[in-house]
Amino acid sequence: MDKLLIEGGISLRGEIRIAGAKNSALPILAATLLTHDTVQICNLPHLFDITTMIELLGCMGVQPIIDEKLNVEVNSSTIKHFNAPYELVKTMRASILVLGPLLTRYGRAEVALPGGCAIGSRPVNLHIAALQTMGADIVVEDGYIKASTKGKLRGAHIFMDMVTVTGTENVMMAATLADGQTIIENAAREPEVVDLANCLVKMGADITGQGSDTIVINGVSELKGCSYSVMPDRIETGTYLIAAAATKGRIKVKDTRPDILESVLSKLEQVGAEIKVGENWIELDMHGKRPKSVSLRTAPYPAFPTDMQAQFTALNTIATGTGSITETVFENRFMHVHEMNRMGASIKVEGNTVIVEGVDRLKGAPVMATDLRASASLIIAGLVSDNVTTVDRIYHIDRGYECIEEKLQLLGARIRRIAS
Ligand code: EPZ
Repeated sequence: MDKLLIEGGISLRGEIRIAGAKNSALPILAATLLTHDTVQICNLPHLFDITTMIELLGCMGVQPIIDEKLNVEVNSSTIKHFNAPYELVKTMRASILVLGPLLTRYGRAEVALPGGCAIGSRPVNLHIAALQTMGADIVVEDGYIKASTKGKLRGAHIFMDMVTVTGTENVMMAATLADGQTIIENAAREPEVVDLANCLVKMGADITGQGSDTIVINGVSELKGCSYSVMPDRIETGTYLIAAAATKGRIKVKDTRPDILESVLSKLEQVGAEIKVGENWIELDMHGKRPKSVSLRTAPYPAFPTDMQAQFTALNTIATGTGSITETVFENRFMHVHEMNRMGASIKVEGNTVIVEGVDRLKGAPVMATDLRASASLIIAGLVSDNVTTVDRIYHIDRGYECIEEKLQLLGARIRRIAS
């Protein structure tokens, strides 16, 4: 397994380009199952998770074509079966996103039940309950979700007990071809849900309210092909900005969107960063100053994103003062804390809150990644450490960050990948 080797103590400086959003590209790839026309998807990030979703479509008999510009063209008319096997689903939970499209287009789907992962049990009960309300017959047996519907799914008035991003996306896709109107109350408002909705509308779906907590979908008879460019990745953007703030640096991130990062930019200003924004770029400058600790609480959009909690914890470890970080979305998203304390951080876990007392510096050490965003936080910890840190199990990082060592090298970091 590859490792990343990081020599800390460098302030990040320079410019990088942000890739397309993983958590928007994944549902949009699943949405190609809703039509037999060709859908072209541009600005896809080059990530393991994207490859896995393309592999999943492939194993169902749908052969995406990757063109010279690395855009993907998908025509699902060659589909052979409607099963998503455990071998693929176990590597990527987002495979559950094929359930809604298969069920509403073909009346059948058999999707392996995604297991839990490092950050929590992550059940899919809300996906299943909503689809049952729309008339689907669903049994969970032998580790598989076995779903079918006689005729079309029925539009329904659905109240999601919890805000669920992929749950909202699954139901929204299922509703596009259902009979009648579906209203999703307590819908997720994440920008990636809006991006998927915008792509579905371009395919001919009748959707309003995306971005609010009430989404209304009127079923249509069929969807057609389109060409759609995936939005920039706000989590990748925030990760690099936080790394620059932690290392007292100055960076500019391009091909991104400041309007969907307001909660993060406001926290970065609290740590002492000077932030300038343009239509598709963000510049952060710490003027060489050590960051100040911040306190924050994660929650569904537009509140502070859970996917940037670990990264901010890393920043707090070497900031001035003490900050508390509360995680309200997942029940076990502090796996990085133990590793950071091994590097000399002073973090106490109290239930779903960590209290981080800033220290002057961390000491590099061999650490192990446990999930995608924890991996990024350990890289940030390595960047602000004395001497060398090696991060193991970085297959987690390759799932969600395109060319991370190259982009950090462009910003002056001393980081390299070593095969082990
Ligand atoms: C999406 O996961 C993202 N993944 C996650 O990003 C992100 O952390 C999460 O939303 C929250 O923003 C993708 O979009 C592919 P949820 P998702 O359903 O949809 C509970 C990353 O790092 N829940 O919004 O799986 C669940 O356990 C990944 O890129 C149920 O109880 O998350 C959690 O506590 C990590 N039953 C909460 O809701 C359900 O049926 C929110 O989960 C569904 C969810």
